[in-house]
Amino acid sequence: LLSSTRAKLVASFLGVSLLGGTVALLVGGQLLYRALLREASNRVSLDLNAAREIYQSRLRRLTVVLNAAVLNDALDTALARRDLPPLVERLERLARYGRLDFAGLAAADGRTLCRIGPAPASPLSPPVDNPLVTLALERRSAVSGTVLLDRAFLQAENPELAERARIQLIDTPMAAPRRGTEETAGMALGAAVPLVDGERLLGVLYGGVLLNRSRETVDSIREAVFQDEVYEGRNLGTATLFLGDVRIATNVMTPAGTRAIGTRVSRQVGQRVLGEGARWSDRAFVVSDWYITAYEPIYDIRAQRVGMLYVGVLEAKYAQVRRRALGAFVAVTLAGMALAAGLGYALAARVLRPIQRLVQASTEVSRGDLSVRLEPHTRGEIGVLERTFADMLSALRERERRQRLEHELELARSEKQASVGRLAAGVAHEINNPLTGVLMFTHMLLRREDLGADVRADLETIARETDRVRRIVKGLLDFARETPIATEPTAVNEWVASILALLQGQAQARRVGLRSSLAENLPTVELDRTQLQSVLMNLLLNALDATDPGADILVTTELSAKPGPAGVSGVEIAVVDRGRGIPADDLARVFDPFFTTKEVGQGTGLGLAVSLGIVEKHGGTIRAESQVGIGSTFTVWLPGTGGEQPP
Ligand SMILES: Nc1ncnc2c1ncn2[C@@H]1O[C@H](COP(=O)(O)OP(=O)(O)O)[C@@H](O)[C@H]1O
Ligand SMILES: [Mg+2]
Repeated sequence: LLSSTRAKLVASFLGVSLLGGTVALLVGGQLLYRALLREASNRVSLDLNAAREIYQSRLRRLTVVLNAAVLNDALDTALARRDLPPLVERLERLARYGRLDFAGLAAADGRTLCRIGPAPASPLSPPVDNPLVTLALERRSAVSGTVLLDRAFLQAENPELAERARIQLIDTPMAAPRRGTEETAGMALGAAVPLVDGERLLGVLYGGVLLNRSRETVDSIREAVFQDEVYEGRNLGTATLFLGDVRIATNVMTPAGTRAIGTRVSRQVGQRVLGEGARWSDRAFVVSDWYITAYEPIYDIRAQRVGMLYVGVLEAKYAQVRRRALGAFVAVTLAGMALAAGLGYALAARVLRPIQRLVQASTEVSRGDLSVRLEPHTRGEIGVLERTFADMLSALRERERRQRLEHELELARSEKQASVGRLAAGVAHEINNPLTGVLMFTHMLLRREDLGADVRADLETIARETDRVRRIVKGLLDFARETPIATEPTAVNEWVASILALLQGQAQARRVGLRSSLAENLPTVELDRTQLQSVLMNLLLNALDATDPGADILVTTELSAKPGPAGVSGVEIAVVDRGRGIPADDLARVFDPFFTTKEVGQGTGLGLAVSLGIVEKHGGTIRAESQVGIGSTFTVWLPGTGGEQPP
């Protein structure tokens, strides 16, 4: 019983802590992860600035190299003279020094005069569009920046470059749909510087580096920004250059372990960065994994969005941090739950211990063992319960003790009554016959005429005393005789009133008032009128004997179920006097046969003993209450005949 209560208590403790733990875990974990992501996102956003700086510095270096070359007068002279072989040689030195992929000189009309590489320029070859030179001529000033170079240009400059620029497109999850299977254009960092002699434009020097498949820029970004950090065998930080949405230079790897050149940006990022020209700084799907990324558009020399610069770090790294944090959370929660369970168990034991004691005690009480001791030592409601229980126990014990006592008393009384009765019957029977003889002969003697006055007086004394003995013997016989009761339905009040009327004269003679207070609606009672009359007469005569002249005796009747067995209703007839009263010692003995306090010749001490016998034969009881100097009350209770009680 209690162990299940304890289990319930512990379970609810566990439930609460589990709920709390889970909520803390979910909310805390989420908050932590958000904060981590935000932090990482901010960092990557800064990393993108660093990456742009590296990209720009590559461009600056190229521009500086070309501008410096123009400052050399030798170039002007050779150009003016159209002396091509030394020019080509000079360009080749320039390209080596500046690590250029292509370089050349164009005439003032834009046609290429000479270039480095395996395909020398020839006046006969068809003109190709050179966006760098075109813009420089348009603006009549040096230009530099990112530039898109078409396949024809690359082919003319150097077929190797065209080949390098060609990139096979690879299907990429989450990318926007796109037509075509390859990208043939090249994205380059380039510059073009006009050569001027005074006011006269001699030509334009141009050169650049092809970014397609170039490792230099992206790897130096990775190196400088991420220190080549590795997470689970993969580069933690990555950088990419996009031509449109295609990766043309990257150190993001495909699952196969090759650089993910030809894969494309996710549709979401593409839309935002290429479409709207905004920066992206959030997590994004890159090739095959989630990264925390930053993207920004790359503008070409004509301020067109042509590509994107990207840096990103593997999200897995942060996921791992989150996993660790969640692990710690789970451990703390489990520890908390264990603590809660332990605490719950201890607390439940503490709370339930007094209840356990109560349960045990009441089990013993219900088995009939009233000797249980229960020391109330708990505070609060359970303490009240314990005290109430203890009070109830002691009340039960007291009641049991009284009942036992009463029972013993009753037993002793009826035993005494029976033995005295048997003795009395025997003695009375033996005495009665000789006594009758004595009385008969005394009266015969008294009838004689020749008796002297003194003899006659003595004989009369003998007759009187013998008569008294006879009366005692008769009383004894009455007491002893088991006269069966012959009951008849009786209206109690009328019957009581008729007996009071019989005694009215005697009471008046002693100047004692006889009053009565009779309850209405009494049930009719089955009683032996003759026998019970002598009971009531005896009670009234005793009361008269005890009452001084001028006082009253009160007789009451009332409906009562009190003294009988539970549930039995009946009638109580009480005789109340304001007389001498009975000392406590005597009160216990008034129902004993031959107990009397009256002078010799006045009382036999059999009145109450006989009365008790009669009442008990009716299934009723008599009880006596008395206090010396205040008065006595003798109460007769008789069971009513069930069902005849008026409503
Ligand atoms: N109403 C009473 N007031 C005082 N004492 C009483 C009263 N009724 C009975 N007693 C006492 O009880 C004793 C026994 O009464 P009872 O059996 O009637 O015998 P008896 O009347 O012959 O003495 C009386 O002697 C008396 O001492
Ligand atoms: Mg009497």
